[in-house]
Amino acid sequence: MSEQEIKDLEKIFEERIANDEKIEPKDWMPEKYRQMNIRQISQHAHSEIVGMLPEGNWITRAPSLLRKVTLLAKVQDEAGHGLYLYSAAETLGISRDEMYKQMLTGKAKYSSIFNYPTLTWADIGAIGWLVDGAAIVNQVSLTHTSYGPYARGMVRICKEESFHQRQGYQIMYILANGTKEQREMAQDALNRFWWPALMMFGPRDADSTHTDQSMKWKIKIKTNDTLRQMFVDQVVPQADILGLTIPDPDLKYNEETGHYDFGEIDWEEFWQVVKGHGICNKDRLEAKNKAWNEGEWVRNAAVAYGEKQKEKQVKKAS
Ligand code: 3HC
Repeated sequence: MSEQEIKDLEKIFEERIANDEKIEPKDWMPEKYRQMNIRQISQHAHSEIVGMLPEGNWITRAPSLLRKVTLLAKVQDEAGHGLYLYSAAETLGISRDEMYKQMLTGKAKYSSIFNYPTLTWADIGAIGWLVDGAAIVNQVSLTHTSYGPYARGMVRICKEESFHQRQGYQIMYILANGTKEQREMAQDALNRFWWPALMMFGPRDADSTHTDQSMKWKIKIKTNDTLRQMFVDQVVPQADILGLTIPDPDLKYNEETGHYDFGEIDWEEFWQVVKGHGICNKDRLEAKNKAWNEGEWVRNAAVAYGEKQKEKQVKKAS
C-alpha cells in the first residue's frame, strides 16, 4: 500500500472517530490503535480473572448460605466478564493463549487492587462497594469507547457490576449497623481498601503514558483523574450513610468546585504494586499458574471431545 493510500485511510479513520462511529473488527485501523486496544482490553480481562482470587478466598467462609450463594454468583460473573473481554480482544487478532501467557508470565498487567489481601468478611463488602463501585465508574464511560466489541461488552458487564456494588454496600451497611466488633471490622476494611481503590484509576493524568492518545482515539472517554474524582464524589456520601470514616484527613467538600478535595495518593506504593512488589502479587501469579498447569487435562479433554465431534460430523456428512 502506498504512503498516500495509508494517509487517506488514516484521514477516514480520524473522521470516523470524530463522528463517534464505532470501529469494528473488519474495519481498517491504525496498527497503534489495534495494539492500544489489545493492551487495555486484555489487561482488563486479566483483572477480572485475577480478581476472582481474593473474593473466592471467602466463598467457603461466607457467614450464611445466602452470602455464600451471592458471592459465588459474583465470582462467576467476574469469570464471565473476563471471557467477554478476552473474546473482544481476540477480534483484534491476538489469541486467548497468547494473552493468557502474557498474564501468567507477568508480562501483562492486571489491576493493582487485586494484590491486596482479603483478611476479613468485611473486605468482601468493601470490595463490592468500593472496587466494583470504582469499576462501574470506569466501565460506564467505556460503554462509549470507540472499539465496537469492547463498548458492547461493557454494556453487559456494567449491568452485572451494579448488582456486585449493591451487594457489597449491603454487607457494609449490615456490619456498620451491627455490633461494635462488626462496625470495627467494616471500618478496618474501609481503611485498607480506600486508597488502593483510588489507585485503580491509574496514575495522575500528567504521569499517564497512554491517556493523551487514548483520549484522542476515544479508547478512553474520560481521563484517570476525572474518573477518580467522580468516584470520590459518589462514595463519600455513601460512607456518611454508613457512619464510617474515610481514612483521609484532607477529604473536604469544596463549595466552589462542587467536588470533594482529597489527599495525595501514595504513588510510591502504587508503582511498587504495579511493578509486581505488592503484598499478594507473587501469590496471585502462583495461583494462576498452578490453576493453568492443573487444568491442562481439562483443556486436552475439551480439544479431544471437539475433535471427536468433528469426526462424527464428517462421517454424518459423507
Ligand atoms: N493497576 C495496574 N496497572 C495500572 C493501573 C492499575 N490500577 N493503572 C495504570 N496501570 C498501568 C497501565 O496498564 C500502564 O502500563 P502498561 O503500559 O504496561 O499497560 C501504566 O500503568 C500507565 O498507566 P496509564 O494511565 O497510561 O494506563 P491506561 O491509560 O491504560 O489507564 C486504566 C489505566 C485506567 C486502568 C485503563 O487501562 C482502563 O481504564 N482500563 C479498563 C478498565 C480496567 O482495566 N479496570 C481494571 C479493574 S476491572 C475490575 O475491577 C473488575 C471488577 O469486576 C471488580
